[in-house]
Amino acid sequence: MSNTGNPYQDDRGNKDRSITNSGGGTMTLPGTSGRATPAPGGPFLAAEMMTGGYGPVDILHDCTLTVEKGEIAVIVGPNGAGKSTAMKAVFGMLNLRGGHVKLDGEDITLLSPQDRVAKGMGFVPQVNNVFPSMSVEENLEMGAFLRRDDFRATMEQVYDLFPILKDKRRQAAGELSGGQRQQVAVGRALMTQPKLLMLDEPTAGVSPIVMDELFDRIIEVARTGISILMVEQNARQALEIADKGYVLVQGANRYTDTGEALLANPEVRRTFLGG
Ligand SMILES: Nc1ncnc2c1ncn2[C@@H]1O[C@H](COP(=O)(O)OP(=O)(O)OP(=O)(O)O)[C@@H](O)[C@H]1O
Ligand SMILES: [Mg+2]
Repeated sequence: MSNTGNPYQDDRGNKDRSITNSGGGTMTLPGTSGRATPAPGGPFLAAEMMTGGYGPVDILHDCTLTVEKGEIAVIVGPNGAGKSTAMKAVFGMLNLRGGHVKLDGEDITLLSPQDRVAKGMGFVPQVNNVFPSMSVEENLEMGAFLRRDDFRATMEQVYDLFPILKDKRRQAAGELSGGQRQQVAVGRALMTQPKLLMLDEPTAGVSPIVMDELFDRIIEVARTGISILMVEQNARQALEIADKGYVLVQGANRYTDTGEALLANPEVRRTFLGG
């Protein structure tokens, strides 16, 4: 496997390709501290004091999420805490009654999701994130829907990141395994060359090994300077790769700290990480 030309790879991190190739390697998640670069003009994503919900009912209450360039920020919290709602709010799928969303210093609070994609956001929703009857390649092409330029190089980068998708490019996405479908979903979002990649439970329903490997690929993406905002049910493992973690409860920020500090916090461990 040649790594040449793949911007999602570098010489750091783990080269285990067993998510896509037979033959494993040992899984070593490298430390992630010190990678992200705080911007002088504020965080790359600044979604601050977001209040809003569905109809008249507020789900989010002054919820704040910020991500620096190249940083992995992870949102954890109980079911129904509003994690997906917060992601939708950042992506413009919710009318906020309060707060704002800024991307790279620009206020995008009033922009549609499509306009946010044009500004550099990519979103992988929690459910229905692939077109099951369309082929893998057609799914990726759909991801490039806003692009007017030649996106084939980006598609090759996605195939380099997830080689199994190249092998299965003519196959219907609905026929793939859960982990492979999640790769299609992530790949589809990468097709617009986002600067911020938002992932809502990318490892839902996959085995622990596939989860580790997906996390490795996400680390690779972050190392190219793409910011990651990710919701995860596998809280402990996700916080291990997180530069920053958010614990959301009832639509509000309960704890915000480095992933490492949250993992070490006895109260967070007891209440949210199962001890
Ligand atoms: N489309 C909707 N219309 C009305 N209420 C909704 C809608 N989607 C979610 N809710 C409600 O908003 C609250 C937060 O839901 P949300 O899906 O954001 O939680 P979550 O933290 O992502 O949960 P999970 O861990 O189960 O994915 C819940 O009470 C849920 O019932
Ligand atoms: Mg959710």
